[in-house]
Amino acid sequence: MLPDPIIVMPDFVARFEGWDLRGMTAEDETRMRDHLVRYSVIVIADQHISDDDQIAFAERFGPPESYAKAPSFYKAGGPPRLLDISNVDAEKNILDPADKRRLIDLGNRLWHSDSSFNPVPAHHSMLYAIEISSKGGETQFCDLRAAYDALPDDWKAEIDGLVAEHWAMHARVTLMGVTDWSPAELEMLKPDAWHPLVRTLPDSGRKTLFLSAHASRIIGMPVPEARILLHELTDFAAQPERIYTHHWRERDLVIWDNRCAMHRLKRYDVAREKRILRRATTVDVAYVPLERPDEIDAAA
Ligand SMILES: [Fe+2]
Repeated sequence: MLPDPIIVMPDFVARFEGWDLRGMTAEDETRMRDHLVRYSVIVIADQHISDDDQIAFAERFGPPESYAKAPSFYKAGGPPRLLDISNVDAEKNILDPADKRRLIDLGNRLWHSDSSFNPVPAHHSMLYAIEISSKGGETQFCDLRAAYDALPDDWKAEIDGLVAEHWAMHARVTLMGVTDWSPAELEMLKPDAWHPLVRTLPDSGRKTLFLSAHASRIIGMPVPEARILLHELTDFAAQPERIYTHHWRERDLVIWDNRCAMHRLKRYDVAREKRILRRATTVDVAYVPLERPDEIDAAA
């Protein structure tokens, strides 16, 4: 039976110990669903699970994203509904420092929300640690609901109703300067996601900021002004009192709600130490995508 959680940060982070998710009952599932509304980050320690166990667990809470058609730089191997979050290739060799996948993965060190570049973004990410580095490599989470609550009223009024464009290549091309893309890759990953900067969550009724390193501009606003606003909001959100730092242990499963928390990876010795995790990600089925803004076609 699912035990009561250990509260790490009230209404933000909870931790479960002494529970095996493979034995989850219908009652456990109901309780876990409630916890997932209340807490943005849930740590389930010491899980001995296979890829199939991880996918089956994710499916209890929503349809998992598929990576079957993802560009090759996203995946080194594994089943199509798990994303490989690692610095190794399919043979478990550490990637060369100049390997494109390693360079792209540096984007994980920026505050972001997973898959925010999709028209229907991610709901929960469920990341399982198979092998971790001896130092560094923590994942940090930033409470976006608390950040919205703490915003001054004039700032809340300023951003109310604004819509941001999220683009899969923004962090990679604009922020990090990775430029060698084929026309097919650029075509596959062109912008097609526009999300409100402020969302009211249907399950908790709380408001949250929709921020991510993938947010490239704001509709109807000059690009420099938009990027500074996004930078300032991210800076405001990611204040120490709103951050949880997860120090990984092997066999941790960490679940976070991408609607309520941004996250980022902290540095580790990526050229010498292996770090291997697998992520299942559920789709936010309750999300209603916005129409493509008229301005996009007018500017084309
Ligand atoms: Fe991520």
